[in-house]
Amino acid sequence: MADIAIIGAGYVGLTTGACFAHLGHDVTVADVVPEKIERLNRGEIPILEAGLDELVAEGLEAGNLRFVLGAANACRTAEFHYLCVPTPQGSDGSADLSYLVAAAAEIKDILPANSVVVNKSTVPVGTTTVVEDVIRREDVKVVSNPEFLREGTAVSDFLHPDRVVVGAEDQEAAIRVAGLYARVASPVMVTDPVSAELIKYASNAFLAVKLTFVNEIATLCERVGADIDDVTLGMGYDTRIGRSFLRPGPGWGGSCFPKDTAALVRIAADAGCAFDFIEQAITLNTAHFQRTADKVESAVQGGVAGKTVAAWGLTFKAGTDDLRESPAIEVLARLGAMGADIVAYDPAVHGQLASLPGVRVVEDPYSAVDQADVLVVLTEWSEFKGLNFDKVGELMRSRTIVDARNLLDRSALKRRGFTHIGMGR
Ligand code: NAD
Ligand code: UGA
Repeated sequence: MADIAIIGAGYVGLTTGACFAHLGHDVTVADVVPEKIERLNRGEIPILEAGLDELVAEGLEAGNLRFVLGAANACRTAEFHYLCVPTPQGSDGSADLSYLVAAAAEIKDILPANSVVVNKSTVPVGTTTVVEDVIRREDVKVVSNPEFLREGTAVSDFLHPDRVVVGAEDQEAAIRVAGLYARVASPVMVTDPVSAELIKYASNAFLAVKLTFVNEIATLCERVGADIDDVTLGMGYDTRIGRSFLRPGPGWGGSCFPKDTAALVRIAADAGCAFDFIEQAITLNTAHFQRTADKVESAVQGGVAGKTVAAWGLTFKAGTDDLRESPAIEVLARLGAMGADIVAYDPAVHGQLASLPGVRVVEDPYSAVDQADVLVVLTEWSEFKGLNFDKVGELMRSRTIVDARNLLDRSALKRRGFTHIGMGR
């Protein structure tokens, strides 16, 4: 079993660390935020991620998982050094590599001989070389090992991935990194670093384009009288298309698709090939946020200005507390600009949001709908399905629901006198 250092205790680093410990490795996770490290050492998980608390508790108890402040304290004796730091969108659309470069610079002089630096952050093609140039050590190899986990199902995705991708010039280093996943029963693909880096962006961009396609088809369904559920079901039977990632919604978002599509457009432009259709997908997705807000506007007699809009869901999808680039926030910001008075509820969000200054965030779904002129469902939390809709109807001023996730049982709502407006129906 290997000695692994993880740099960055966020969604990816924390999951990677806890899962590698679960697989039997000896893992030290480092971060720069002292209170995060203190909480983790007490077994408290700073993010919402199914199953992560059990794995962290297991590793702390077994003694093969620990948390330390500062990368240097994790890397001094480790054989593998995983970079899991943020790569946010820079001002020109490209990925900002400053955290990655800073982390590499921090550890370069203390890395043990013959150890391997592994990049798990999502980075543009050529970044393996950038990290090599920062480290400048003949006795240390740099390998790309992109991560494909989804938030909300991160632990399960890490332990049962569709594939593991390892990109390295040095075959021996590639085999050593691939060996860390020996107890993961998934295909491990070894390629060169540039291809590994591009696999990550191409996968995210492909999925984002797929979702834009679905949201556009949903809009077409509304115009021609088709039902998106039946259309996507019929499409999904074709194994070349597949059934997953065909759910329409208020637009795609999250911490990665927006920045990664922008970064791929930039990578392509720098390589001299314009990627217009990915740019078009980004533009259409932004337009779709407005389209969703317009749906709420037309659901209320006289429009939303001066009316009360209840919102269920703030996070970018269910199962996470992550609000980064959330479509719900995009839609609510537009409704706020249209003059709506908004009251929101989300099971993973407590307290008011700086990104939505005019929105009142409440602690239960019924308070949110009290005296509302319309309810908009923006995140697909399954708890919304089991609520008491007789009570919801009594509390609301008008029994109108815009269900931007097609989550609720429309026949049951109809029976209770609700007007239920979905996506693509
Ligand atoms: P995050 O913001 O949740 O976590 C990053 C952590 O790194 C933070 O806790 C931060 O304090 C820490 N950090 C920054 N600089 C550091 C340093 N020098 N030393 C130690 N710690 C440092 O980010 P994330 O969502 O985990 O994403 C990390 C990378 O993984 C990004 O490149 C992202 O694109 C990629 N990725 C994310 C996901 C996802 O679902 N979130 C999935 C696949 C890939
Ligand atoms: C996504 C990818 O799915 C992961 O493989 C990748 O590792 C990750 O980005 C990353 O690079 O960070 P994630 O952002 O956690 O994972 O979320 P997804 O489940 O992909 O959802 C992204 C957005 O698409 C959300 O807004 C979600 O609501 C939306 N979505 C997803 C739909 O509208 N319909 C669907 O059918 C699926």
